[in-house]
Amino acid sequence: MIRLEKISKEYFMGEVEIKALDSVDLAIQRGEFISIMGPSGSGKSTMLHILGALDQPSSGCYYLEDVAITELSDQELSRIRNKHFGFIFQSYNLFNELTALENVTVPMMYAKFPKRERNELARTLLERVGMGHRVSHYPNQLSGGEQQRVAIARALANNPTLILADEPTGNLATDQGEEILRILSELNEQGTTVVIVTHDSKVAQSAKRLIQLRDGRIVNDAPIQKAIS
Ligand SMILES: Nc1ncnc2c1ncn2[C@@H]1O[C@H](COP(=O)(O)OP(=O)(O)OP(=O)(O)O)[C@@H](O)[C@H]1O
Ligand SMILES: [Mg+2]
Repeated sequence: MIRLEKISKEYFMGEVEIKALDSVDLAIQRGEFISIMGPSGSGKSTMLHILGALDQPSSGCYYLEDVAITELSDQELSRIRNKHFGFIFQSYNLFNELTALENVTVPMMYAKFPKRERNELARTLLERVGMGHRVSHYPNQLSGGEQQRVAIARALANNPTLILADEPTGNLATDQGEEILRILSELNEQGTTVVIVTHDSKVAQSAKRLIQLRDGRIVNDAPIQKAIS
């Protein structure tokens, strides 16, 4: 599904060059569930942003379904983002002045869904993440875990093939975090490819493959062995 070839990302702070990613090669198949770990500053968020086409690499090539997306215009990239990717962030990133339902409809407005369909689909998605009873609540009337579930419903709005999550449980209590992971695992079982960045090795173990980054390089990439209970 995705192939990164020698992807590097450099930032310049005055004279100083920071290599956030250093010649990374990576292949992701459809249906995978991957967690990315590594120390702070090792390039995890940078990698997720590049995977989600939110950011362009300084060099290297990114193929999505064999299309070299590093060569596309901004407009084509945003079309690809809308069609393929769903994003979940540590800080939820919901609009405070919109209800849960309205937040979920935002990506559908960009995709030009008719209003009635938007509302129906948003309601269905909120039900799917266990938030059917909170459609009219505003973000500040919801707990952190509830806000993150709304953010997941929003990420699902355009039926993405790949969900990218940066520390999705980072601000949550353990039980709320577990609920988020349960939803992500369920989505993966239904065929959605999922990539999550996390500091928490317990969270990372929910995935099927673990990639470890250090100083912008992949230092380990292996399947996760599940203990048989
Ligand atoms: N916009 C930017 N300008 C300059 N340097 C940046 C920028 N974004 C990231 N960096 C640097 O690139 C490196 C990788 O950053 P990145 O955000 O990918 O790390 P991370 O692994 O996600 O860390 P954390 O676990 O703290 O979120 C860091 O050294 C960071 O300071
Ligand atoms: Mg980060």
